[in-house]
Amino acid sequence: MCGIIGYVGPLQARDVVLDGLTQLEYRGYDSAGMALLTEEGIYLRKKVGQVSSLRSICTEDVDSHCGIGHTRWATHGGVTDANAHPHVVGRVVLLHNGIIENYHAISVQFGFEGLATSETDTEVAAQLINYYYDKTNDPYQAIRNAIRIIDGSYAFCIMFDDRPGTIYAVRNVSPMVATTASQGAFIASDVTALIPYSKDYFVVPEHHILTITADGIRVETMDGEEVQPEILSVNWDVEAAQKGGYPHFMLKEIHEQPEVFRKTIRPRLNNGLPDFSQESIPDDIFRECTHIQVIACGTAMYAGMVGRAIMEKELRIPVTVSIASEFRYDTPLMDQHTLVIVVSQSGETIDTLAALRLAKECGCKVLSIVNVKGSSIARESDYVLYTHAGPEIAVASTKAYMVQLAVLYLITARMALVRKKDSEEAVRAFITSLEKAPDMIEQIMALDETIRKQAEKLAFAHDAFYIGRGMDYAFSLEGALKLKEISYIHAEAYAAGELKHGTIALIEPGVPVIALATQDKIFAKTISNIREVKARDAYVILITKEGADVSDDVYDIHLEIPIEDDRFTVFPCAVILQLLAYYTAYAKGYDMDKPRNLAKSVTVE
Ligand code: F6R
Repeated sequence: MCGIIGYVGPLQARDVVLDGLTQLEYRGYDSAGMALLTEEGIYLRKKVGQVSSLRSICTEDVDSHCGIGHTRWATHGGVTDANAHPHVVGRVVLLHNGIIENYHAISVQFGFEGLATSETDTEVAAQLINYYYDKTNDPYQAIRNAIRIIDGSYAFCIMFDDRPGTIYAVRNVSPMVATTASQGAFIASDVTALIPYSKDYFVVPEHHILTITADGIRVETMDGEEVQPEILSVNWDVEAAQKGGYPHFMLKEIHEQPEVFRKTIRPRLNNGLPDFSQESIPDDIFRECTHIQVIACGTAMYAGMVGRAIMEKELRIPVTVSIASEFRYDTPLMDQHTLVIVVSQSGETIDTLAALRLAKECGCKVLSIVNVKGSSIARESDYVLYTHAGPEIAVASTKAYMVQLAVLYLITARMALVRKKDSEEAVRAFITSLEKAPDMIEQIMALDETIRKQAEKLAFAHDAFYIGRGMDYAFSLEGALKLKEISYIHAEAYAAGELKHGTIALIEPGVPVIALATQDKIFAKTISNIREVKARDAYVILITKEGADVSDDVYDIHLEIPIEDDRFTVFPCAVILQLLAYYTAYAKGYDMDKPRNLAKSVTVE
């Protein structure tokens, strides 16, 4: 959700803050704001729109070496300059990522009603800290007293106008990381803003107060006891978070898929077999479970649906996939024999984190598949298999989905071995096919021009339908989501056999239907369903395996994927569906890296 940066050091804070906000813009782009402490007082600028709009109003010469900045994804209060962060109340300057649930009650209790200059929950936190600061003149006491009262999730950066050169920070649930480098001390909502200065960082511990000065960062408990947080390092560099010559991050990330796929699976192969010993994942969790429960949101959940298809097929074990925001309020049927697999790119999705906590309360072991090192989900899981996608900046997930799939396939192979479902030879053959996926993805990129031409047609559509059976249905769900979120075309995925039970009423002449028929067992059945929509003059984009026996009256355009084994068709299909969505948004002239109403990493409910 919102992006946060704070800096104290010898550089000009304005430049560091604006550059940091540019790196973090994918976390929210409704408005941006910055506050700097100067000898003349607080320099505050806030503006609706992207960071470039903020930059355009920060033209004065300001000498400051201490400042904070924010990119907002609106929750409480509309998208206005007044609601942009930071908020200044009395001597306090504050910015926030999260949601303060009891802000109204606080406002009533402390008589802040009518005094606010914005409609945000955040301003109430600034009012409360200022209230206690007026009483105590002590920043720590003011923060501690306020935190005791505030309910909800928060990452706060706070400055006091009479405490030059100092930023205070505190968090509950909402993520924050920090580092000290030769150019000063930095705090941010994620490492992409820190990476130009240092590859080392630490995760800000929850319920601790940070004091950030030019001399470094002090971390202390609420009782004032100093703690030394564990230092982590990222294994990618600043170029990974830049476009590298591509017009958009999304296209760059689609093209990175072969490389990140290899990076994710190769270190976990030993003599052609899957091996998680480096991650110290005991085989018992795979051997002893009687049920697998996958929990995730959005694209990660759709990766889980493909995972279910491959696991049930290969392992003959029941797998349930749940939407985290539903699961967390359910009364799930789980016990210590349930292996819970949590999937998350950011590792910070609040619903997924809450679902993970519920699973642990039920006595389950949790294995998570996470991209961001040291993230909350990674830290709270019993075991973690990191994906090595590097930073995913485009809001619409592509390469993270791909490597989540890769890890789910690896888990399937490891379980087949451990549970003696397959011989070593069969598992080795499965892995050999998996290792071919990156080459297949590279070959699919050659279809780029054909896909682009189809996307130009799709750009005129109001609705689009994705159909498939079995595994094809699982990929269709993700394909439809990609199109919806970046091209704003209404798109739905349906199990092909289900169409005639209602949805076929929506098929009109010219409506695009993206039909996936890559599974031999149900190929003929899917083709019959495609005929049903073709008979109603739908415009059919058909995707099959190379050489599939299909007559040319079934489709308008036929895309073939170079693969024989049905179990692995998701990898090339995913790329086709990603490119189709990308080029459709491109043809419509949208900024697919920053789709409307969305933000990367959903840290609010
Ligand atoms: C869609 C997309 C989202 C995320 C979802 C979960 O392109 O990116 O649907 O997949 O918000 O996010 P993570 O994986 O960070 O938990």
